[in-house]
Amino acid sequence: MSTVLVTGGTGTTGSRVARGVTEAGVVARIASRRAAAPGQVHFDWADPATHGPALSGVEAAYLVAPVGVVDPAPLVQPFLRAAAAAGVRRLVLLSSSAVEESERPGLGDLHRRVRASGLEWAVLRPSWFMQNFTGQHAASVAAGEVVSATGSGRIGIIDAEDIAAVAVRALLDEEPHDTDLVLTGPQALDYAEIAAALSRALGHQVVHRAVTPAALGRHLTSLGVPPEWADVLAALDDDISRGEQDFTTSTVSDVTGRPPRSFADHLAEHTRGLRSQERCRPAPTGPRGAVVAPSGP
Ligand SMILES: NC(=O)c1ccc[n+]([C@@H]2O[C@H](COP(=O)([O-])OP(=O)(O)OC[C@H]3O[C@@H](n4cnc5c(N)ncnc54)[C@H](OP(=O)(O)O)[C@@H]3O)[C@@H](O)[C@H]2O)c1
Repeated sequence: MSTVLVTGGTGTTGSRVARGVTEAGVVARIASRRAAAPGQVHFDWADPATHGPALSGVEAAYLVAPVGVVDPAPLVQPFLRAAAAAGVRRLVLLSSSAVEESERPGLGDLHRRVRASGLEWAVLRPSWFMQNFTGQHAASVAAGEVVSATGSGRIGIIDAEDIAAVAVRALLDEEPHDTDLVLTGPQALDYAEIAAALSRALGHQVVHRAVTPAALGRHLTSLGVPPEWADVLAALDDDISRGEQDFTTSTVSDVTGRPPRSFADHLAEHTRGLRSQERCRPAPTGPRGAVVAPSGP
C-alpha cells in the first residue's frame, strides 16, 4: 500500500489510524468536510462529487460512515462504486460490536455491502470506546455524573488506540483479513465500575445515574441528538442492560501481538486532561451538575 484514504480522519479512531498509517511509512490522506491542512482532502459523504477526487491514487480506505445517520447506505453506496472504479484494492469499515451483518438499514447493511464489494475487506466491530469518558464528554464527566440505561450490564470497553492499531494492520497487511473483527478491551465493566474508576482518577466522586431507555432517549434529545438516533442509542443501552455486551475477545492481541489497554491504564494517561477540563468547566447549573450520556455505536 502506498496511499490510504482515511475517512473520519479528524475523528476519534480516524485520527489515530492516520497516525499509525503514517508511522508505517504509508501516505495517509485525511478526508474531512473542513479540509485545510496539508495531507487533507475535502470529502463529504453527502456530496458524491467529492468522492472521486478523494479516491484518486488510493489503494486502501478506512471507512467511518456518516455518524448519526440511521440509514447510511444511500450516502455510502456511491462511494463504494467510485472506489471500485478508481481501482481501490481494500476497504476497512468501522462498525460496532453491537451490529451484525444485516440487510436492515444501518452499519450492518454497510458491512454486507463492503463484504460484497468484490474488493479486499475487513469490518472492525469494536465495543464502546473508553474515549467516550475522556474525550469529548470529559468536561461533563468531570462534573460528576454519567447517565445510562445500561443498568448493571457490562461492556468490554476499548481504547480507540487499540481499534486504530487493528485498523492499521487490516489496511496494510499483505494478506487481506477478509473478515469481521470483534474488538474489546481486556475487561468488561458496568457503569458503576466505570464511574468508580473515574472517581479514583479524578479524586472526587463520579456517580452513575441509571435511567430507563425512554428517559435516556428524552435526555439525549434534549442535548440535541436527533430523535431517531436517540432511539437507536437508547435501544443499545437496553441491550447492554440484558448482558449482550458482557464479553471480551482476544482479537486485539491476536492481530497486533500485544494486549489491549485496560481502562485503568487509559485513565492514567488521560487524568491530566480530565482534570484540566474540570478546572475549565463552568459552575453546574442544575441540582446535580452537568450530565453526560456517552456516545454509542
Ligand atoms: N463511541 C463509541 O463507543 C462507538 C463504539 C462502537 C462503534 N462506534 C462507531 O464509531 C463511529 C464514529 O467513529 P469515530 O468515533 O472515530 O468518529 P468521530 O470522532 O465521531 O468523528 C466523526 C468523523 O466523521 C467525519 N464526518 C462526519 N460527518 C461527515 C460527512 N457528512 N462527510 C464526511 N465526513 C464526515 C468527521 O469529519 P469532519 O467533521 O472533519 O468532516 C469526523 O472525522 C460511528 O459509526 C459509531 O457507530 C462508536
